[in-house]
Amino acid sequence: MLLQQTELEARFNLARSLAEEGGALALEYFNRRDALVIETKRDLQDVVSIADRDVEKRIRERVAAAFPGDGFLGEEDGYKAGASGYTWVVDPIDGTAPFVNGMPNWCVSIAVLHGGEPVVGVIKAPCHDELYAASAGGGATLNDRPLRLDSSRTVQNAMTGIGANSHVTPETVADIVNRLLHMGGNFIRNGSGALMLAYVAAGRLVGYYEPYMHAWDCMAGYCLVKEAGGWHHAFPTAGDSLTKGAPVLAAAPGATADLKALAGLS
Ligand code: IPD
Ligand code: CA
Ligand code: CA
Repeated sequence: MLLQQTELEARFNLARSLAEEGGALALEYFNRRDALVIETKRDLQDVVSIADRDVEKRIRERVAAAFPGDGFLGEEDGYKAGASGYTWVVDPIDGTAPFVNGMPNWCVSIAVLHGGEPVVGVIKAPCHDELYAASAGGGATLNDRPLRLDSSRTVQNAMTGIGANSHVTPETVADIVNRLLHMGGNFIRNGSGALMLAYVAAGRLVGYYEPYMHAWDCMAGYCLVKEAGGWHHAFPTAGDSLTKGAPVLAAAPGATADLKALAGLS
């Protein structure tokens, strides 16, 4: 199915307004977080609350009303296939651990896929009042300011984001950090993989690597990084792989070779 500019623009506009709306709703919960009941999912570090479910529900309803033929994958409520060729991939709150613990590093992440590729990527970080937005061929922006990566930034002269969850062993994570440090790099983890991918697009980080993440964590960030002039590892989308985990890696031009070697990816 061919990507039509008007169809893309209509979804890009909706994604931006839903990131703002979802972000405002999440921020209301964040400001009243003492009243939230925190539940755990896979383990004690994997948390969720009504805020995550409510934000996803709002975005799902709005998308279904505007584009009833589009597919939708959300972290909290799963996958519903569509017939239009477009699929929305949404993490209502990425960085739920910082969110429930009162830290500002969380965001609403919205991507739209076409032909398996993220063609829209919008990330809203309400505590920082930042909206990152990109669409295929249209470039990436932060609060409407164009983003363009600087190729003089490398693993050695900038910071790399590293993420980890209980899908991978402590030894694997320790080995990644060890090898990054031996390359002359350094690492940071703020608790939101999606936001750190947006930071790669903004040139704040030179790359982001996490050995196992889901499509809702990375697709919006991938579109942003690509449109800012960076590279990302392809996330598998064929069959049911869209709902499964995969390695996530994105990098600025001057760090791509080093980070591919670090992750053992091509
Ligand atoms: C998590 C965050 C975290 C990353 C985890 C993700 P959540 O998403 O992005 O930084 O290390 O792998 O699952 O649970 O906050 O939506
Ligand atoms: Ca997430
Ligand atoms: Ca989430």
